[in-house]
Amino acid sequence: MAQLEDSPIVLPDDPDFGPEVQVDYPGYRSTRWRAPDRPLVTIAEEFHDLEGPVFGHDAVQEHDDDLTRQHEGEPLGERIVVTGRVLDEDGRPIRSTLVEIWQANACGRYRHEVDQHPAPLDPNFSGAGRCFTDDEGRYRFVTIKPGSYPWGNHPNAWRPNHIHFSLFGPEFTRRLVTQMYFPGDPLFEFDPIFHSVRDPKARELLVSRFDIETTQPDWALAYQWDVVLGRGGSGTTPMENQT
Ligand SMILES: [Fe+2]
Repeated sequence: MAQLEDSPIVLPDDPDFGPEVQVDYPGYRSTRWRAPDRPLVTIAEEFHDLEGPVFGHDAVQEHDDDLTRQHEGEPLGERIVVTGRVLDEDGRPIRSTLVEIWQANACGRYRHEVDQHPAPLDPNFSGAGRCFTDDEGRYRFVTIKPGSYPWGNHPNAWRPNHIHFSLFGPEFTRRLVTQMYFPGDPLFEFDPIFHSVRDPKARELLVSRFDIETTQPDWALAYQWDVVLGRGGSGTTPMENQT
């Protein structure tokens, strides 16, 4: 941790913010611009009962959960299967909830105009997927292991391999965004985003597990990652936008 400066925890007054996530983390520069510095706005009660919207112009399609089959050819890179369950704080499955992911390609490049990292785009990889959880709260994606990329936060800053996740709890107003990491990444100790989750045990909840049982012979490695949605209590998955 020699690369990262330690700093005092700054928690908003609102108790709904989990204690693990420091939303304004000096080592992660852009949090300065987006961390709330004014009192939270209370959303009208009637909005709490709205069901989660489906992003995109169409309903979820058959191959939305398979990022390797969204174009004519197969993307380059290491094919992986990512599975897990979405649970509430009491371990109950959250059924039929929308799970969305987005990620860099195998070279560490996003298909986005802002990303000008000098690594190749892959014409067969968009890097976005979505699915609904089943009755057991399970989700499953087939994708490509994302590469690391530089991000300019500080000298020689590189992100660990990660997949961004957006999840809806039972309510529209509780959309949560986080990142899933891969076990044993050598960049963990240098990454201010990973360390903006201050509690080491909470950080571990962001790291997937290599899953030999789901790994498919001659086809794809598998990683397993459960998400526990809650209000930031012990054992819940840290979120970037806990509200
Ligand atoms: Fe990213």
